Order: sequence, then C-alpha cells, then structure tokens
Amino acid sequence: MPTRRQFLNGLLAAPLVAVSAGAAYSRLIEPYSYWISENDIFIRDLPTAFEGFRITQLTDIHHSRILGISEVQRVVNLAQRTLPDMFVLTGDYSTTYRRYIEPCAEALSALSAPEGVWAVLGNHDHYTDPELTTRALERNHIAVLNNAHTTLRRGSDLLQLSGIDDWTWNATDWSRAFAGLDAKTPTILLSHQPTVLDLEQTRDVALIVSGHTHGGQLKFPLLGAPARLFTNDLKYARGLFRRGETQLYVSSGTGVIGLPLRFGVRPEIAVLRLRRA
Ligand SMILES: [Fe+2]
Repeated sequence: MPTRRQFLNGLLAAPLVAVSAGAAYSRLIEPYSYWISENDIFIRDLPTAFEGFRITQLTDIHHSRILGISEVQRVVNLAQRTLPDMFVLTGDYSTTYRRYIEPCAEALSALSAPEGVWAVLGNHDHYTDPELTTRALERNHIAVLNNAHTTLRRGSDLLQLSGIDDWTWNATDWSRAFAGLDAKTPTILLSHQPTVLDLEQTRDVALIVSGHTHGGQLKFPLLGAPARLFTNDLKYARGLFRRGETQLYVSSGTGVIGLPLRFGVRPEIAVLRLRRA
C-alpha cells in the first residue's frame, strides 16, 4: 500500500510523465510517421481520358541538418510506391543553407512517372538560392514551372498544368504563368502558397495544389495550432478548400522548420485522384 505522501508524489509526477512522453513522441515518432493521403478531387469538364488520373504531391521536404538525406530518400521511396501518373513538387526543398539543395534534388531524381515530375519553388528556396535550386532540379530531370505552363495530352484530350514562382517573394508572374492557356480546358496550378486561392487571378483555375503551412506542424487538442497566433498563413492549413469553381488542396508536407517537432499533424504524401464531376 503506498503511503499518502507516495500517492501525492505519484499524482504530481503524472503530468510531468505525460509532458515528457508527448515531447518524445513529437520529436522522435510523429515527424517520421508518414501518412499517404488518398483524395478524390471532382473537376467539372475533366476530359474523359483523365478520369482517375493520379497525381502524387511532395512538398516542404526541408532537407537540413535536422532532416537528413536518408529521411529524404525514405520519403522519395514511399512516394514512388504510390505509382502515380504524374508527380508534383510544391517547394521548400531546403531550409536555409545552399549545401542541402543538390543532395535533395539528387534524391528526388529517383521519382519517375509516365507524365513526368513537375516542380515549383517555395519561399525557403528563395532564402537559399532560387537559381541553384532550379538548376539542380532540372539537372535531375525535374521540370520547374517558374511562371510557366505545359499541356498534358491523352489522345485528343488535354489537361493544362501551370506553376507560379513564390507569391510572397513577389516572384509570381501571372501573365507568363497563364499566357496562351485554353479557357475551356481545365487547369491545375502549382503554387507553394495556398492563399492565392483568394486572388482574382486564380478564378479560372480548376485546382490549386499547395503546401507551405506544414498543417501548422504542431496542433494540440482543444488549443489548435499555436502558429496561427503568429501568422495568417494558416487560413488554409490542410485539406481541400473551394472558392467558386476553384478548388485548393493543401498538403501538410513531409518536413519541419524551426523546431524539429510535429504533433497532431502527421507528415503527408498526398495522392490526388482526378474525377469527372
Ligand atoms: Fe515549408
């Protein structure tokens, strides 16, 4: 039988044990417990040949000292196993230092899909080196849509894919990104920043694919994500959103910034399956 003092000591220790266990979980387990999300996205006027078209998105890899190359390779392997029709990468390949750019791009070169691997840059790629990042990706057979677009063809059916450079760095050139697009053909837009959903320029886009938020990275029961107190960027934190005919998918990404922690927002590899609405 514990004494009254032992019982009270145990009671006082319980929250400390819970906090320590939570801290260990958010440092050692959740950042590496990848979630492959499967999402049906219904698109009006999607051409028949693109019914069921699968896109796997990787975003916010943030290769850095706290997120080593073997972890990046693990993410790439998991993504490759989803066997999509096309890969899209929506920015933040490294965090601060240029030396992480090349190894990350090399790891990403293992991605392969019939309709290719397409990328845009994120805000952190501007902190590090946007030109070096673009060159490194292109050298590894990844096409970078820095305010540019392409058309995917299946027989006579078409789907347009556009990409913008980072909105918050004033690097976006809408006229170049959309120049010559056919208004009757659905367009998918890659944008690191999800808040472009609010802009008039994206009104005719069928689907925006974004990252940037890390889903808040830390999200506690009842309290929510503390990061929302410091930034408006979490308006579209994670998941599917809509404004008029435009949909937005935001992935919580696979990496971390600031603290090497995740809690309540597992790292995500998103698989988007296009469906005819
Ligand atoms: Fe990021």
